[in-house]
Amino acid sequence: MNNVDAILQAGLAAVAAVTDLIELEQVKARYLGKSGELTELLKQLGKLAPEERKAAGATINQAKQAFEAAHNDKRDQLNAAKLEAQLAAEALDVTLPGRGSVGGGLHPVALTLERISGLFRTMGFEVADGPEIETDFYNFQALNVPENHPARAMQDTFYVENGDVLRTHTSPIQARFMMNNEPPIKIVAPGRVYRVDSDATHSPMFHQMEGLWVEEGVSFADLKAVVTDFLRRFFERDDLQVRFRPSFFPFTEPSAEIDVLGERGWLEVGGCGMVHPNVLRNVNIDPEKYTGFAFGIGLDRFAMLRYGVNDLRLFFENDLNFLKQFN
Ligand code: PHE
Repeated sequence: MNNVDAILQAGLAAVAAVTDLIELEQVKARYLGKSGELTELLKQLGKLAPEERKAAGATINQAKQAFEAAHNDKRDQLNAAKLEAQLAAEALDVTLPGRGSVGGGLHPVALTLERISGLFRTMGFEVADGPEIETDFYNFQALNVPENHPARAMQDTFYVENGDVLRTHTSPIQARFMMNNEPPIKIVAPGRVYRVDSDATHSPMFHQMEGLWVEEGVSFADLKAVVTDFLRRFFERDDLQVRFRPSFFPFTEPSAEIDVLGERGWLEVGGCGMVHPNVLRNVNIDPEKYTGFAFGIGLDRFAMLRYGVNDLRLFFENDLNFLKQFN
């Protein structure tokens, strides 16, 4: 039994030398496994004389315990080192400032569009839509502007190769809606429109909102009431002066420009009129039975007035310092 100490010392040295947990378990098996070196010593106890057995058993057990203690220490050490390494590798500096989240906001023209749609909804109008690339038929012909007619010169049109156009106004939406729906019809239709035009108050792309009410007995008095009521609610002034100034549009008869009285005088905000009988006929509505009015307003102009912006181009330059002020 005098080799117990030698085996123990070798075992302890082996434990001390390991660098990972798998190796450590292999060393443990070599000494305490089924046929481990210390296990084998215990098995041989039976061969000893009875008087020697007790002391030898005690010695081997002490060696076994010493080995187990060393093994457990080493295991704890390796586990701690492993955890430390993992913590270092996955380190997260919770004291760093966050990335923050920049909240977006609606564009002033979009805000204006929402507000105006909302006001018309409360008056029973639904919101309709149409394509921005429009056929010549809906942009002009259905609206009583024949091919080669001088009235086309009122609008500087972008033509697309196949003869389609970038819609020059939102009026084609009324033609489309009437073509596909029976009266009573009561819609507003906001959207982007395009004309070859560019300065402080004109942009090649701008926004309009069309209004249309077709039903039996709709009159110019209804037109004046609806438009005036809308304008007073939009500008939040019950005493706002509104003027309907005689004008010409091919698709309405009679026609008028809509003016409001501001601090610097009368200001044009849109056009309007009674839907021309030819337009009703073009979309298969009987002009003997139904009448209607239509109007078109410039949404950008409304946004400029509401927010006190004096250059239309500011709306389309996408300068965040400008846009942030509206949210
Ligand atoms: N479409 C006309 C324009 O863009 C405005 C308008 C709409 C006039 C409806 C009368 C009726 O100038």
